[in-house]
Amino acid sequence: MGSFYVTTPIYYVNGSPHIGHVYTTVVADALARFHRQLGDEVFFMTGTDEHGLKVQRAAEERDMSPQALADENSQKFREVFDALGLTYDRFIRTTDEDHQRVASELFRRMKAKGDIYLSTYEGWYAAADEAFYAEDEVADGVAIETGAPVEWVAEESYFFKLSKYQDQLLEWYRANPDCIRPESRYNEVVSFVEEGLRDLSISRTTFDWGIPVPDDPKHVMYVWVDALTNYITGVKAFSDASEWETFWPCDLHLLGKDILRFHTVYWPAFLMSAGLELPEQLFVHGWWLVEGEKMSKRAGNWLDPHELMKEYSLDLLRYFMLREIPFGNDGNFATRRLIERNNNELADNFGNLVNRMTAMTRKFVDGKAPTVDGIADEDQPLVDTATQTWAEVRQAIDDRALHQALEAIMRLSTELNQYVQRNQPWKLAKEDDQAERLAHVLYNTLEGIRWVALMLRPFLPDAADEVLEAFGIDADDRTFATLEWGGLPGGQAIGSPDVLFTKLEMPEEPEEEEEQAQPPKEAPQAGLLDFGEFQKLEMRVGLVVEAEAVEGADKLLKLSVDVGEDAPRTVVAGIAKSYTPEELVGNRYAVVTNLKPAKIFGIRSEAMMLAADTADGGLELATFTQAVTPGTQIS
Ligand code: MSP
Repeated sequence: MGSFYVTTPIYYVNGSPHIGHVYTTVVADALARFHRQLGDEVFFMTGTDEHGLKVQRAAEERDMSPQALADENSQKFREVFDALGLTYDRFIRTTDEDHQRVASELFRRMKAKGDIYLSTYEGWYAAADEAFYAEDEVADGVAIETGAPVEWVAEESYFFKLSKYQDQLLEWYRANPDCIRPESRYNEVVSFVEEGLRDLSISRTTFDWGIPVPDDPKHVMYVWVDALTNYITGVKAFSDASEWETFWPCDLHLLGKDILRFHTVYWPAFLMSAGLELPEQLFVHGWWLVEGEKMSKRAGNWLDPHELMKEYSLDLLRYFMLREIPFGNDGNFATRRLIERNNNELADNFGNLVNRMTAMTRKFVDGKAPTVDGIADEDQPLVDTATQTWAEVRQAIDDRALHQALEAIMRLSTELNQYVQRNQPWKLAKEDDQAERLAHVLYNTLEGIRWVALMLRPFLPDAADEVLEAFGIDADDRTFATLEWGGLPGGQAIGSPDVLFTKLEMPEEPEEEEEQAQPPKEAPQAGLLDFGEFQKLEMRVGLVVEAEAVEGADKLLKLSVDVGEDAPRTVVAGIAKSYTPEELVGNRYAVVTNLKPAKIFGIRSEAMMLAADTADGGLELATFTQAVTPGTQIS
């Protein structure tokens, strides 16, 4: 038994929650419940991020004070999490008094370390992202990465010496290869830091909705310094409270892919500066699309969790969110997929198993779990499968692969259904000399159901408790420590749980929409193209005739590529970290020639070089070793 501290990002209060916000908190809830069931001491924290320009402006638009807007929207997040039965231990608000104290103290410590200095910030800022952007990260008035509008800022500002921490960060990443997961994100962060870090502006003077900088209150702290600090406020940093001792360093910060840099670069650097231990792991997840589209109020596809809760059970929503997306990937919230999973996996598989077996127990053995003597040889494989499933589930949770944990549990449920089909208890019940075999078969399926319910409980708490209640298992005994085959006492009265999962009707939909309802691309066989679709892509052999660096953009090279036309095409490629201009000239590479031109760093790029990510975070261009004529089609 140990301790487990898990956090979600804290949510901006400029608007109300959608299903994407609920997602991370549901994941954290499932992990928290899982660890409680393991017997760990758990602290699960979520909350709201209330300061900053974005919230101040949203309040101005509504003619309210930022505090009033924060109160209103923070309450909406809390209500949604409560309605979903999420078991957070603290709902933190950055306007909480203890948080303001801890954030000020963190600032003081970083300053005392000599890591904060006063200067002037002049550059781009995107309020929508609450982020500063360098010149090469901005084009046409927006941040290239996020599309958020940027504004020019020139004002006195405190800076944090982020550059000083470059080597220490790299050492930390290298010594702790699991500190950022999935691996692709780890690689992304390492190469970003290797490129060099600029000092970070950490205060603003042109608005006041924030925590005042200690000893210089005309500045407010940069909202990300304030926000990230919530993770230590919650466990009572800078005090001698036992929570600090027990829970810090945090086991797991969950976060979406859009806030990677803040969490994996800035946050550990702040902690290093303040002399605090670093978190064990930052896990970065993907984004939900809705029926294939990005969610936005403007597009009218904002999935309001309250509306979803009117239509679907909490368990189903949890199951769908946790099972549908391989945790870490993007996913598609498609109603048809949700209904399919409900009908096929929950209702037909587990729900049906429970209904049939409790009914058979009533009918054939007086509604009591039979008493059996040990495990029959022929049943040993079923027991082994159950044991193996539990091992897989443990591992999957340690790997944060929640979808795999659920997949393994549902596989055991399928296995139990097959065991019943093979052993045909309804036939055994008709034969007088088969009473003992019938007892074994019924006992094993009931015991198997108990295992499935216990393992499902962190994910589907309502349905699992319904089953465990019907099986007479006390709340205190609903722990993983009871996963020993034979744990269900013989003679135990087995009640009938209410219908666990109701089948839902599949809406009629036109055919094109069917396509959108495909599962996310979990394996390469998903999303196969017709040959005709493949042919739409025009790829040719391109000979690089000229290459040069792009001034001010250290990742980019500008190439002239002969693709068999009258004049070479200009191509801007992000390969400067892996190739020098000299080594490209005179070589042949695979080029996509029928993409719409894109303006990159002010230069019109008329084709795209094909390249693969290499293990060390670089890029390798797809090349030809023979002197194929430039312009030759690749097919
Ligand atoms: N306030 C900051 C986080 C500070 S943490 C110290 C913030 N807030 S946010 O409200 O904009 O986003 C919170 C989280 O919601 C992020 O992890 C983000 O990735 C996630 N999501 C927002 N939309 C989402 C989807 N459509 N799908 C999945 N997660 C999404 O950033």
